[in-house]
Amino acid sequence: MRTYTNVKDLGNLQQALNEAFEVKNNPYKWDTLGKNKTLLMVFFNSSLRTRLSTQKAGMNLGMNTMVLDINQGAWKLETERGVIMDGDTTEHILEAIPVMGSYCDIIGVRSFARFENKEFDCQDTILKQFIQYSGKPVFSMEGAIGHPLQAFADLITIEQYKKTDRPKVVLTWAPHPKALPQAVPNSFADFMNEANVDFVITHPKGYELDEKFVRGARVEYDQRKAFEGADFIYAKNWSAFQDPHYGQILSKDRDWTVDTEKMALTNNAYFMHCLPVRRNMIVTDDVIESPQSIVIPQAANREVSAQTVIKRMLEALK
Ligand code: CP
Repeated sequence: MRTYTNVKDLGNLQQALNEAFEVKNNPYKWDTLGKNKTLLMVFFNSSLRTRLSTQKAGMNLGMNTMVLDINQGAWKLETERGVIMDGDTTEHILEAIPVMGSYCDIIGVRSFARFENKEFDCQDTILKQFIQYSGKPVFSMEGAIGHPLQAFADLITIEQYKKTDRPKVVLTWAPHPKALPQAVPNSFADFMNEANVDFVITHPKGYELDEKFVRGARVEYDQRKAFEGADFIYAKNWSAFQDPHYGQILSKDRDWTVDTEKMALTNNAYFMHCLPVRRNMIVTDDVIESPQSIVIPQAANREVSAQTVIKRMLEALK
């Protein structure tokens, strides 16, 4: 595997899941695979889970790991080509990327949507520049339009907890005080559309996601109706995608908060969220602290998804 930015990069999804459970059950089986190989993780944005789980995944594989926080201690990077650099940016990303590539064997990149230019975001420009100019295998640690390590971990978690062959999985929008990217719901939809699940998306009107990821999945505007009979509730906020409201907050309606009354409509569903989560905006204390909440094992599976992806990249280097 040379790049990991979406579900298609995994190839056969069942095979990838089988491999992930092998990794989960025996994480140190490949502890020399990454000997003398270096994993560089580049963060343009904050992180807790991705940073720690990916670093741990590299360490499980015997790799050396390096982390660069672009906004803390690195030169301020210019990302647009053609700019006259007489402002506050010191280094162009088109030099910085190949330099970073020269110090490592595999690169993970986190670079969120900026909501300044929809086309720049939709092209996943920063991630693509790393793929094009680093000369090394690159995986997304959340780009402008997708978070495939999260979605792979989500699928592993659903596989781990499901009680029926084809569970009903509901992705629900929930309110948040800040404008958040669509990366997590995009990748979740991308994966659920490939998985053996009955997938439903629910959100207020105006929050329609990119059809490239929804791909004809059922969209239900009545959240309570969507919850009926669900086996998994996956909550997430995202800002508007469609023009002319790209990147805007259209609603903070707390009637969309996931609470015990709505969870009672489900088939005793498990509650999922990628974290970090705003309590009593996205989900009530009672629901996230309930026995049906699997947010902690879901986060733990981030190590498994990252290790499976990095392992495949190391195997391809041989
Ligand atoms: N879910 C997730 O990616 O968490 P972090 O932003 O903390 O890495």
